[in-house]
Amino acid sequence: TCQLNKLAKEAGLEYFGTAIDNPSLNNQNYMRIARDSDEFGSITPANGQKWSNTQASQGRFSYGSGDAIANIAKETGQLLRCHTLVWHNQLPSWVSSAYSRDQMERILTAHIQNVVGHYKGQCYSWDVVNEAMNDDGSFRQSPMYRAMGEDFITHSFLTAASADPSARLYYNDFNIERCCNAKINATWDMLLSVLNAGAPVHGVGMQGHSRVGKSPSKREMKETMARFLQLVNEVAFTEVDIRHTSLPVGEAEREQQARDYVEVVGACLETPGCVGVTVWDFTDQYSWIPGQYPGEGEACLFDRNLNRKPAYSSVASLL
Ligand code: XIL
Repeated sequence: TCQLNKLAKEAGLEYFGTAIDNPSLNNQNYMRIARDSDEFGSITPANGQKWSNTQASQGRFSYGSGDAIANIAKETGQLLRCHTLVWHNQLPSWVSSAYSRDQMERILTAHIQNVVGHYKGQCYSWDVVNEAMNDDGSFRQSPMYRAMGEDFITHSFLTAASADPSARLYYNDFNIERCCNAKINATWDMLLSVLNAGAPVHGVGMQGHSRVGKSPSKREMKETMARFLQLVNEVAFTEVDIRHTSLPVGEAEREQQARDYVEVVGACLETPGCVGVTVWDFTDQYSWIPGQYPGEGEACLFDRNLNRKPAYSSVASLL
């Protein structure tokens, strides 16, 4: 057998994982692969734990969607990468009102204590803050940032740490894979100041969404990881998918995609401190890409009929 998590662990990673989402839970052929801990050693709820699902209206918490996926990890013994506590997207409108610093601090405290408390002991890691920086290196003007400045990040990590001391706490973002751009430099500075303020940031998650033929090289990613590892214990690729920008694609494009995936996984393998790779779903059937980028897609390791693509085979032979 050449299943990804089994191979990844033999190669020294902690896991090879995937995001899964609630609508696919009733697809038995899909679930046979998703629940196979030799294939995927970690699962991430693609949506269920986000603010809009867990606290759509203030003070009313709901965990049905998140639990449906967390329960799978309980049954299979797969790790659960929990995702995500504080993000400007999928944020209910009530959080976006103009709040004072103190009000926002209380809102964050209540949200994080409740959600992290609910999943206490189940999360191998938490993506505590997601996408706080802009590509140009400035802070994103989110409702949290507007109310509290960068203290919202420090506060979020401190609150998460006290609610579940055993979860590894990550800062997660996109376009921070290819060293070294303004966003990477600013993220590094932000993390240093948050750490200096006393917040426990254990890991940096590089989402790893990219495009076939335009994907960062192994060398560029290794350089990025070395930088972040000056500050934190570990890094991971947390949401990898590599999309074709025009469809349909032929064999040459599929082979290029395979080489691009190999760069990412190879960068992790060659970086002590890179603990694992998570793909943002494993089949083109359920990928978020066509919804987000119309006309683009086929970004995953399996095609829409759950057949393994060249990218799968190349990653497996690398591992
Ligand atoms: C995506 C989900 O996959 C979609 O189903 C949803 O509609 C939008 O969010 N960065 C992240 C993820 O951190 O949470 C996003 O997930 C993809 C981009």
